Amino acid sequence: MSEKTLFITGSISYPNGLPHIGHAYEAIASDALARFYRLAGWDIYFTSGTDDHGQKMVQTAKGEGVSAQALADRLTPAFKDMGEILNCTHDDFIRTCEPRHIKSVQALWRRIADSGAIYKDIYKGWYSVRDEAFYTGDEIIEGEAGQKQAPDGSPLEWLEEESYFFRLSDFQQPLLDFYEANPNFIQPESRRNEVIAFVKGGLHDLSISRTAFDWGVPVPDDPAHVVYVWLDALANYISVLEYPDEKSQLFSKYWDNVLHIIGKDIIRFHAVYWLAFLMAAKLPLPTRVFAHGFLTVDGEKMSKSLGNVLAPAPLAEHYGVDPLRYFFLREVPFGRDGSFSDEAIVNRVNADLANDLGNLAQRCLSMIAKNFDGITPAYANPTAEDEALLALFDDLLPAAEKAMAECQIHLYIGGVMEAVSAANRYFANSSPWDYKQGAENENIERMGTILYCAADAVRQAAILLQPVIPEGAGRLLDLLAVPANARDFTALGKAGRLESAQILPAPVVIFPRLEKSAS
Ligand code: MSP
Repeated sequence: MSEKTLFITGSISYPNGLPHIGHAYEAIASDALARFYRLAGWDIYFTSGTDDHGQKMVQTAKGEGVSAQALADRLTPAFKDMGEILNCTHDDFIRTCEPRHIKSVQALWRRIADSGAIYKDIYKGWYSVRDEAFYTGDEIIEGEAGQKQAPDGSPLEWLEEESYFFRLSDFQQPLLDFYEANPNFIQPESRRNEVIAFVKGGLHDLSISRTAFDWGVPVPDDPAHVVYVWLDALANYISVLEYPDEKSQLFSKYWDNVLHIIGKDIIRFHAVYWLAFLMAAKLPLPTRVFAHGFLTVDGEKMSKSLGNVLAPAPLAEHYGVDPLRYFFLREVPFGRDGSFSDEAIVNRVNADLANDLGNLAQRCLSMIAKNFDGITPAYANPTAEDEALLALFDDLLPAAEKAMAECQIHLYIGGVMEAVSAANRYFANSSPWDYKQGAENENIERMGTILYCAADAVRQAAILLQPVIPEGAGRLLDLLAVPANARDFTALGKAGRLESAQILPAPVVIFPRLEKSAS
């Protein structure tokens, strides 16, 4: 198997409130990618964390009468726990207030400064605390009562303070050249176009330090300034790999092939600022940035004022972790916006998992239990239909890999689930029950072959779906007595074909039908 490495990063969340399903969505999607590539034999490093610094944290903490550190310490565990609750397999979780990160940000700053890309001046302009972003020119819109707003509607405040600046304007052409030479760097295409238009519109130098508060990484040799929260936060992607130790195992191995998974609202920071910082520091650039869409609730944007902010833990508790993961990943085309509703999750999960996959497994396993004493039947005298079914599943991997190479998670799942539907049609058309003992057409060998084919289809579907529904897929493989070393993608196709004459455990329902949440 290939020796490919890939560093998959989720963004690091602001711990200024509890996690909601938008955070959960990103964690689940990036986890599915990480799990998929591990099963394909890649060496994966997968991280996330919290973005503890910045003015937003200072403001929220002030409102609660606590220090920003205390606020971050209180809320960060909820983000870490969320990953565990949702069965995500992060290798590390970094907080930007950790010494290992602070050291790394300062090293990066020094390196950028050494290149001559930093100078000191006075910043006069508009700032959105909500976005932790500066806005200029025609991006600024007049809101109600003359309130200045960012394009996303967040309120702006006027800042005037001494600041260090980054010579972003010098990087316009290098960035455009890079996008052209690396057409897949920003995905999906719509985001790439948006970024290119922004950069072509002209880049202003960027204020990269603040003096109005001290909650942040002190600027090297000038501790009256703290590093701008986005420069600080973006550096997590290298601090978590032990930068500035470029010879470290982690940095040298994983900074080579990097996939950043982020939400569409923060594409500019990743595809413009982060690249330019790295270019200035003469560090290698990431390979890809994929921006996913936003989740709404019943079609409405989540907001505290609407009171519709959904926390993932109670949903996982009510519906189960696998159903929640499946719903997000199958229902929402990755890269587009999607809506969560009780009705949508119940419909989707009941149709796909309880009916299609669950019934296929349940029907063939219970017939094996009943008619073959729970022992895997033989694959004997197959028909063209039997062979076609096995071949259909044997050939699923290339399409899945192609979809995942473009982060089209929903398409990879869709491909597997189409095959599951075909397996259900095969099962119904083959009518194994017609051949049972005492029936007019009794033919136990024929019945066994049909059940064998259906069971092997379940095996391959379960192997392929482990990144999405890790627990349920694992339990299906348990029911088929598939050994632990025959569950990765090398076991797909003939290589891991079910062995006949295996004693199987008693079948149980793996994907029960869901009921709508009472709330
Ligand atoms: N701290 C920054 C990221 C720094 S990365 C170097 C940040 N934090 S956040 O908490 O506001 O958002 C964390 C992630 O969740 C971002 O990728 C963001 O796009 C995503 N989402 C926030 N709300 C979301 C939805 N409603 N739906 C889907 N994802 C959303 O931005």
